[in-house]
Amino acid sequence: MISPITIKIVIIGVGIIGPRHAAHVKKSKSTELFGIVDPSAAGPKVANELQVPHFNSIQEMIQECEGTGTQYPDGAIVCTPNSTHVKISAELASHGIHLLVEKPLSPTPAEAMALKNYCDSKGVKLLVGHHRRFNPHIVATKENLHKVGKIIAIQGTWTLRKPSAYFESAAWRTDISTGGGVLLINLIHDIDLLQYMFGPIERVYAELLSKQKLQYPNVDEGACLTIRFKNGICGTFVCSDSVTSPFNFESGTGENPTIPYNDGLEGLYRIFGTDGTLSVPDFNLYHQNSSEKQEEPSWLNPIQKECIIENRDEKLLTQQPFDLQLAHFVDVIRGNQEPFCSALDGMSSSLCIQAVLNSIETELPQRVPDCESIKPDYSSLGVKTFPLDKKLNS
Ligand SMILES: NC(=O)c1ccc[n+]([C@@H]2O[C@H](COP(=O)([O-])OP(=O)(O)OC[C@H]3O[C@@H](n4cnc5c(N)ncnc54)[C@H](O)[C@@H]3O)[C@@H](O)[C@H]2O)c1
Repeated sequence: MISPITIKIVIIGVGIIGPRHAAHVKKSKSTELFGIVDPSAAGPKVANELQVPHFNSIQEMIQECEGTGTQYPDGAIVCTPNSTHVKISAELASHGIHLLVEKPLSPTPAEAMALKNYCDSKGVKLLVGHHRRFNPHIVATKENLHKVGKIIAIQGTWTLRKPSAYFESAAWRTDISTGGGVLLINLIHDIDLLQYMFGPIERVYAELLSKQKLQYPNVDEGACLTIRFKNGICGTFVCSDSVTSPFNFESGTGENPTIPYNDGLEGLYRIFGTDGTLSVPDFNLYHQNSSEKQEEPSWLNPIQKECIIENRDEKLLTQQPFDLQLAHFVDVIRGNQEPFCSALDGMSSSLCIQAVLNSIETELPQRVPDCESIKPDYSSLGVKTFPLDKKLNS
């Protein structure tokens, strides 16, 4: 039964991102922070700071609820290391708790598909935490795409330098087998946005960037991609976490409180169309619409640069994507909306990242498979699925 007044939400994992989600849940009028689940020292510390109960495990939380006759939380936000998402989410789903799972839904699409099917069978809602879809810069980009005419090509960049402590503080980030690597952790955000804005990716080719952190041989530090979308749009993308650069979404949009905002950055994304080019996050549109002569647009005429969003900072920097994502999660739990970033969307991004990794390994372009081709791996769920798995497998 859904709580009638406020939606009770538990946060699973409070490393870097968990406390940020917890603060938004605590702040919202629609939600109540039910508690924190994390077996590390961070668990009781964050719970104490936020004055909410702490549990060492989901099982401990469930036992406590049953022992005290407390209703389970309505929803959970899963903020644990990438390779743990599926098992943890399945355990929560087995108790009917709705899910907002941080990206990537899972590094392994077969596990993600099993989780999706399991959640469907339990009537549990599953939202994937690609929160940037709610970022006003992305909303405005999508709204203004038509201004470039027919989109022919795109260009994008996500480059910065992560501090050593980022890797030293969490071993899972230093090995691809535990979900580490800038491609799986960060590029996946951009892949989700690119597919959200331009449609499904059909093919990728990737060149691995040279390694700087030699102490972590099993993790990538970035890649240069060429991308072909199913609708024929082509693009390039550079992603690196080893270079000193402000050309990344966080610096350009100011959306992450720990990464300084770089005001005035241009061209994180460039969208090239028959009638113009749109640059994001500055929202300069380069076009020839106001040319005096009614001539065919071409290199013979000057190009105008026009910022198409008035009061850009006021409009784009004020709304918090995490608040908007949380409000949406509440609506999803209440049954008022379907997940804006679904399990299939999350899986599709994971499939693209897998294709990128395969391309690096084979040195060849790779076709991105459709989600329908994924065979679910129910053994990864770690919960009793029988007799449902019979039905799910058929
Ligand atoms: N949306 C975003 O912008 C964003 C930003 C950062 C991280 N993330 C994602 O969030 C997730 C967490 O990343 P992070 O950087 O905060 O990781 P982290 O390593 O800093 O924190 C993970 C926490 O999970 C806890 N944990 C591990 N196993 C657990 C379990 N079984 N039950 C409860 N807690 C458990 C750990 O003790 C740790 O405190 C990752 O999937 C990452 O990709 C998303």
